[in-house]
Amino acid sequence: MTFKDFKFSPSLERAVFEAGFKTPSPIQELSIPLILKGNDVVGQAHTGTGKTAAFALPLLEKMKKGEQGVEALIIVPTRELASQISDEIYKFSRLLKIRTTAVFGGMSYRKQIEHIQKSGVVVATPGRLLDLLERGKITISPRFVVVDEADEMLNMGFLEDVRRIFQFFKTREQTLMFSATIPDEIKDLADTLMKKPLFIKVESEEAVTNNNIKQYFYMVEEGERDEALLQLLDFSRPKKAVIFCRTKKETDRLADFLKKKKFKVEALHGDMEQYDRRKVITGFRKGEYNILVATDVAARGLDIKNISHVFNYHIPLDPESYVHRIGRTGRAQKDGTAMMLVTPAEASELLRIKEDTGSQLECYTLPQKSKRKEGRTKDIISQLEKVPYGKTHTEIVGSLCEYYPEEELVPRLIAFVEETLNKNDSIGKTKEEAELILASYQGKDKQEKKPISHKRSFSSSSRGRKFQGIRRGVERGEVPEPSIKKTSGGSRIVARKLY
Ligand SMILES: Nc1ncnc2c1ncn2[C@@H]1O[C@H](COP(=O)(O)OP(=O)(O)OP(=O)(O)O)[C@@H](O)[C@H]1O
Ligand SMILES: [Mg+2]
Repeated sequence: MTFKDFKFSPSLERAVFEAGFKTPSPIQELSIPLILKGNDVVGQAHTGTGKTAAFALPLLEKMKKGEQGVEALIIVPTRELASQISDEIYKFSRLLKIRTTAVFGGMSYRKQIEHIQKSGVVVATPGRLLDLLERGKITISPRFVVVDEADEMLNMGFLEDVRRIFQFFKTREQTLMFSATIPDEIKDLADTLMKKPLFIKVESEEAVTNNNIKQYFYMVEEGERDEALLQLLDFSRPKKAVIFCRTKKETDRLADFLKKKKFKVEALHGDMEQYDRRKVITGFRKGEYNILVATDVAARGLDIKNISHVFNYHIPLDPESYVHRIGRTGRAQKDGTAMMLVTPAEASELLRIKEDTGSQLECYTLPQKSKRKEGRTKDIISQLEKVPYGKTHTEIVGSLCEYYPEEELVPRLIAFVEETLNKNDSIGKTKEEAELILASYQGKDKQEKKPISHKRSFSSSSRGRKFQGIRRGVERGEVPEPSIKKTSGGSRIVARKLY
């Protein structure tokens, strides 16, 4: 299939070509025809597989050209994502003469209101949008409303805002929701906001995480995180990396710590001024520095080219957050690596992530410290090995003096003795130790959790079948019936994360 098969208008087709898109991704292939036909769609597909274009292209095709007022509204959870999505849509809308604007907090009201009045597409965070609507600063009646990162937007905290926003748009024609994770509870909520929504799920294998991402974890004690992270950075030498922390305070502290170690790094979190947030993201995109230490504010939707590694300094608060955090790498069919630090106390959280996401998270042992201290004692050992057996101390020192100036010899010998005495120079648990710890939790988990299934819609083995069903329906030109599965594990809406 090619983009020509969608029979877009020549201008849109050209814009898609100029964006360098040749083949539609599976989510685009499945959802574009359904959206063009006017269906309400809930789309789920792996991170980095083109969900933005999957909803943006058919909507742009359906929009009336020229100054018609706001026809499409896209609601997103963060300011960074609002800017990014409005830029991505601009790539396609520019030739259609449809204006796009981003609306979020921390920016001047006056300018934003002016821009909204001239735009056909508005990409907004819920807080600022609701503020403008409730204070009567803008009156818009979009035909299409999209909730990107739908599960996040319908989580506690955003849910009330989103419901109130929807009250303003009762005349909308079509509602769309997209995310890489759509738990069952969200389906029930979506059902109250949408008309006969069609659920599309694209998943090639069992995992909700993107298959292009290699995933490892390392078990350490709480106090070993910094040293372990340094070892992983040293060892993996990332081209571009995001390190996720749980709190804003930890994010700032870790960024300072890494700066002192001469890494090129900046912090990003929700307490920063808008000007600084923008500066940090722009600098990271441009490659002015290659490590971003962030809270979950950077976990959802951000599409930054060439992120080779994602590090979880702390285990994420929930499996969804894990899927989205690591999804900052391995995008647009590129490969990526995700590494996570886990303490024994976090073993059950790790097991839940593995179970709920179906991820192949492999356990590794951290490289030993001494292996990183290239040259400090390595060459003195090889010289000692050359000294024939049976020599006296004086003769040994004499032969070493042939290789080293006297002033260097003493520190080198001391380092050698230190490392020989301090044999346990490694930090973290070995793979074997970590696996034993996990096994003990696994047993406990099974006994304790038996009556409640934590399996969510996105980890169920029926995933493949559901996808096939939808796919066949589309191929036969039929509109499949909505399939809504009720959750058996009770409601599990994730508490608002403080990022
Ligand atoms: N058909 C395509 N061909 C080539 N590149 C594409 C195609 N569709 C999307 N892309 C590119 O892939 C990247 C990821 O797309 P996008 O940000 O829409 O992913 P996503 O599925 O929304 O991910 P996330 O779940 O993290 O939000 C973007 O850089 C986008 O320009
Ligand atoms: Mg996205």
